[in-house]
Amino acid sequence: MSHTLAVLISGNGSNLQAIIDAIAEQRLNAHIAVVLSNNTTATGLGRAIKAGIPTITLDHRCWPDRESFDQEMIRELDRFAPDTLVLAGFMRILSGHFVGHYQGRLLNIHPSLLPRHRGLHTHRQALAAGDTEHGCSVHFVTEELDGGPVIAQSRISVSANDTEQTLSERVQAREHVLYPRVLQWRAEGRLSLKPQGVTLDDQILPTEGVRDAG
Ligand code: GRF
Repeated sequence: MSHTLAVLISGNGSNLQAIIDAIAEQRLNAHIAVVLSNNTTATGLGRAIKAGIPTITLDHRCWPDRESFDQEMIRELDRFAPDTLVLAGFMRILSGHFVGHYQGRLLNIHPSLLPRHRGLHTHRQALAAGDTEHGCSVHFVTEELDGGPVIAQSRISVSANDTEQTLSERVQAREHVLYPRVLQWRAEGRLSLKPQGVTLDDQILPTEGVRDAG
């Protein structure tokens, strides 16, 4: 039985597409059991449908609070018994209960070299800070927003001509390589979150994770 993924999206779903493609090209030994979106008009839903993947749309505005919405997501997602939950542009803060329920199985991709530039507008933040390098990080999710232990990063150099748009394009291209690669480590059973940190092949990774992995 191959590794079971559940992918959570809110928007375009280009990372979802990269994962779908990696599976089709046998670079990733996994299957996507379900794609869940909190946004009924997410472009990524069409990508899932085209690939024959079941979709669930839960409009968070229909629940009175974060806890009850997250509880509903858990109920829906657990029907698919996911080995790994993949946050791919899922634009909702998750409750402690949700994060705790999926502790060690919940991954996110963030468009910066964490711990630099948490939150939104990371390319703008990198330019404003005068960074000479930028990139993306895949990390395990903990209750701290964009604060969970980093698994791997991919970096690009920033030139004087770069704009938010050019950085966004170049970082996204790296995301599409990095995320499927990290998920393949999960699928191979090589990647875990342990009390002492992230382990890959039973070795504890440094705080920046695997450098230049994508
Ligand atoms: C990506 O930039 C990712 O790093 C961030 O949200 C964006 C999602 O893009 N978490 P897409 O929906 O996968 O195209």
